[in-house]
Amino acid sequence: MTGWRPVIVVASANGEVGMDAAWAILERGGSALDAVEAGVREVEDNAEDHTVGYGGYPNLLGEVELDASIMDGSTRAAGAVGALRGYRHAISVARAVMERLPHVLVVGDGAARLASELGLAREELLTAKARDTWRNGLDRSPSDAGGDGSLVERVQSVIGDIFDPELARQASGTHPAPGGTVNFLALDREGHLASAVSTSGWAWKFPGRLGDSPLIGAGNYCDDRYGAAACTGWGELTTRACTARMVVAGLASGQTLPEACGAALADLKGLEPGEPGGRGYVNLVAIDRSGRHLAASTKEGTEYVWRSDGMDRAERSPRSLVVA
Ligand code: GLY
Repeated sequence: MTGWRPVIVVASANGEVGMDAAWAILERGGSALDAVEAGVREVEDNAEDHTVGYGGYPNLLGEVELDASIMDGSTRAAGAVGALRGYRHAISVARAVMERLPHVLVVGDGAARLASELGLAREELLTAKARDTWRNGLDRSPSDAGGDGSLVERVQSVIGDIFDPELARQASGTHPAPGGTVNFLALDREGHLASAVSTSGWAWKFPGRLGDSPLIGAGNYCDDRYGAAACTGWGELTTRACTARMVVAGLASGQTLPEACGAALADLKGLEPGEPGGRGYVNLVAIDRSGRHLAASTKEGTEYVWRSDGMDRAERSPRSLVVA
């Protein structure tokens, strides 16, 4: 123990349901790594959150595929899973990749095998509510790219056959909640940082699509020496720009949090035009090694949650930096 230090946990707004679990661990002197995993697990359990874990929106074929990553700032060890099916706690499987395998990223059947070998319960992650939204969404999708019948009929006609990526493009136009993901960052009393991200990804995505959430450096990065950052929003942008790593690299070079986050979001400009419906937004949360934090977005009106010493509950606040 190196003496009393302030602790903090910061999450995307949908992390609110996991704040008490994360805080309880930090408050009693537990590790940042345990705190971020515990916070994310609560969100993965929340069937009403259709962007993460159980109840998440499925891919184009109606299968829920989860992506998650976790990083330990004290060692820069990291673990991640992609396109994991049948197990709700993707973050715990990601942690097992970090702690039990000589790898960083395991996907698909391999990730499910690891979950099974860990003794996790296999289950159907697609709830009736999410399935209805998926079917209704596909039925409402534009049909101007040719072909007969509703998109859902066309999707079902090609299951098991060579897939037509144009269907994924059309279906994504009906996305009901673009870009949802959960981020948790924490600083513990030992001065260690950890970061965790979990998502069911882009609803109606092409099967096997990975966003930024399982990609260390893109959606998640953490280093005790400088800080931690994680992203929600359009992963195709942050994947190309390595946004989380860019924030931490900015801190390493002496930038302040507003400078580092501002530069990382500004760097996304020009990658793609914003799309109708707002898919083109990206959100960030970041902490520096002293426990200062910042939440930023490319869009007005988004929120996050946070709690530090002296607060009796988590607070929901607007993201203070907007780089539109
Ligand atoms: N940021 C989450 C995703 O793009 O899948």
